[in-house]
Amino acid sequence: MLKKISKIGVLTSGGDAPGMNAAIRSVVRTCAYHEVECVGIYRGFEGLIEADFKSLSARAVNNIIHTGGTMLKSARCQDFRTEEGQQKAYNNLKKEGIEALVIIGGDGSFNGGLVFNKAFNFPVIGIPGTIDNDIFGTNFTLGFDTAINTVVEVIDKIRDTASSHKRLFFVEVMGRDVGHIALNAGVGAGAEEILIPEEDLGLERLLESLRRSKKSGKSSSIVVVAEGDKIGKNVFELKDYVEANMEEYEVRVSVLGHMQRGGSPSCFDRVLASRMGVKAVETLLEGKSNYMVGILDNKITLTPLEKAVKGKSEINKELLRVSDIMTT
Ligand code: F6P
Repeated sequence: MLKKISKIGVLTSGGDAPGMNAAIRSVVRTCAYHEVECVGIYRGFEGLIEADFKSLSARAVNNIIHTGGTMLKSARCQDFRTEEGQQKAYNNLKKEGIEALVIIGGDGSFNGGLVFNKAFNFPVIGIPGTIDNDIFGTNFTLGFDTAINTVVEVIDKIRDTASSHKRLFFVEVMGRDVGHIALNAGVGAGAEEILIPEEDLGLERLLESLRRSKKSGKSSSIVVVAEGDKIGKNVFELKDYVEANMEEYEVRVSVLGHMQRGGSPSCFDRVLASRMGVKAVETLLEGKSNYMVGILDNKITLTPLEKAVKGKSEINKELLRVSDIMTT
């Protein structure tokens, strides 16, 4: 029996990710399906503090499933770290009659939800939305699949010019302090080397690997570098270092940056978002809260929010081995 909550709020917080709009759409449509009002909260926790609310009907989320970014906008909000800010937010929710909150974001956003739940015993549910795929309790976060496809597409283009000019390219990708984007997109794009924070390759082994590639007849190379990599040099310093130690290579750098956060979400991300939105709303209606919705072995699951925030997402060791073998 689904508990009769009559009004649910939804917000997006932290770095935006493709698929967030599909998740908003699913939350709104599931609320409408259960005859529950859904209120959009703009600009994340900032909008919560400023009562920047708008009721969203099933029609209000027409034609957004295929769009990147977030129609509710997002923000990183310092005020929400203060008791005064949290109290203001709580008062606004009560005044608006919102009885539960769906937070679409990363672990930082879930931390905010947790604090809020503890302070006011207010029901919250998290939907993991970040391109980094760095959240415990789910195989995939919204936006990750789209981001790695974007990166592969760009590296394929870089490979054209690298092979035309017999050049080595260092391509820096996002991921904050994890290497999931670098590893998956690196394997998918056939990179000769992949540098990730979870593995300390070291400068000497990088040179050995590049020399081996060269000796085996490769005239150009792509090295994908996760922005959080700990080799001790940024991509521009790596360029100088390799040029100084491998005269045979002309080296160039491409830092992909925020393009990885944009673009139309992949079908995978749209479907995942739709599944997660339904689970989030129906979990609240069942009277449960303080969970993060996730996908594990293609099943939609619930992980206690505390565990999702505290847990660590591990690098895929089998894929790491595949990437090593592929550089033969
Ligand atoms: O968390 C998503 C992410 O894109 C990270 O990969 C990146 O390091 C960070 O956000 C960039 O943050 P900002 O958009 O504030 O520059």
